[in-house]
Amino acid sequence: MKRKELGKGIYWVGVVDWDRRLFDSLIPLPDGTSYNAYLIEGSEKMALIDTVDPSFSERLLGKLEDVTRLDYIISLHAEQDHSGSIPEVLAKYPGAKVITNTKAKSILMDHLHIPEEAFIIVKDRETISLGEKTLRFIFTPWVHWPETMTVYLEEEKILFSCDFFGSHIATTDLYVTDRCQVYEAAKRYFAEIMMPFRSTIANNIKKISDYDISMIAPSHGPVYNDPGFIMDAYKDWIEGPLENTVVIPYVSMHGSTELLVKHLVTSLEQRGVKVELFNLAVTDIGKLAMALVDAATLVIGAPTVLTGPHPLIVYAAYLANALRPKTRFVSIIGSYGWGSKTIEILGGMIPNLKVEVIEPFLCKGLPTDTDFNAIEKLADVITMKHREIGLM
Ligand code: FEO
Repeated sequence: MKRKELGKGIYWVGVVDWDRRLFDSLIPLPDGTSYNAYLIEGSEKMALIDTVDPSFSERLLGKLEDVTRLDYIISLHAEQDHSGSIPEVLAKYPGAKVITNTKAKSILMDHLHIPEEAFIIVKDRETISLGEKTLRFIFTPWVHWPETMTVYLEEEKILFSCDFFGSHIATTDLYVTDRCQVYEAAKRYFAEIMMPFRSTIANNIKKISDYDISMIAPSHGPVYNDPGFIMDAYKDWIEGPLENTVVIPYVSMHGSTELLVKHLVTSLEQRGVKVELFNLAVTDIGKLAMALVDAATLVIGAPTVLTGPHPLIVYAAYLANALRPKTRFVSIIGSYGWGSKTIEILGGMIPNLKVEVIEPFLCKGLPTDTDFNAIEKLADVITMKHREIGLM
């Protein structure tokens, strides 16, 4: 089957990428992904919403084999996994126009060298008619680039949302069938690239809520025929309460930092505080990002290398700073051999986190009873802070 039908004259013409395991050479994709493109057949015009990753251009063109005329290629987001096949589609349909916004046009010209004359620029909430079908463009910036927008098919009440509400899942299902799987994949996606922009995304959700939406068709993962499911999940991730949880990314070289970290885990557990522990030597960084969505506290476990934090910890601290989670408290624990500037260096790496810093603690060499007592005091302070903000 080349196309899947979402409604009369509305087809999924995307590609499932079963094998991809990394995005942007950074983001793990444990379940693969899909690049969803949609063909909208109006009584007067034919439009393609988004394309696919350029490595799958031929597959997309194969699905358009019997389409003799394409009037519009709608680019909702200029990142290459959705825009990268536009040049090939334009080559097949030289009369087609690329509909997008001003910001996206500039990015598409820079990244794909699409000629200026190929574009039609739309404004926020502007409509374009395909005949008996009407497309309304709704700007939803910073999901996760500045130019991102959605398009609402008014007669069918379908919102095509591109990355917004997407999930990296390779599946033969057109619609969501396994909510648990999609919830986790969508939360992972939110955590990895959208969390820093959550206040803008909250405004975007308010904006699209002006419309009666029967279906959300993202450009990754299955289509939501119950949009409330994913819209409520996003609202919770953005504005929902913090959890009584401490996230501890750590790494250990000779075991000292690990002894401190494991003692902290036990101490917090005994006090009724949940812990999510990530050994960065083996962890999936996407799981760490997901844990940061709701956790009240972050404790970084860092051994010292050449007087500074271990490079894997630098990576995690940089990531946490970039993702700007709503975490309220941060501390650092760790160890050193003869001297360390780990606390100063890590402290300077997380200026974006609007947090209260709980006094860090480093031990010299193998931890002693005195060091373990310091860790228990840290657990006491974290527990008290969680109580103060009503989490316990
Ligand atoms: Fe799926 Fe931001 O690209």
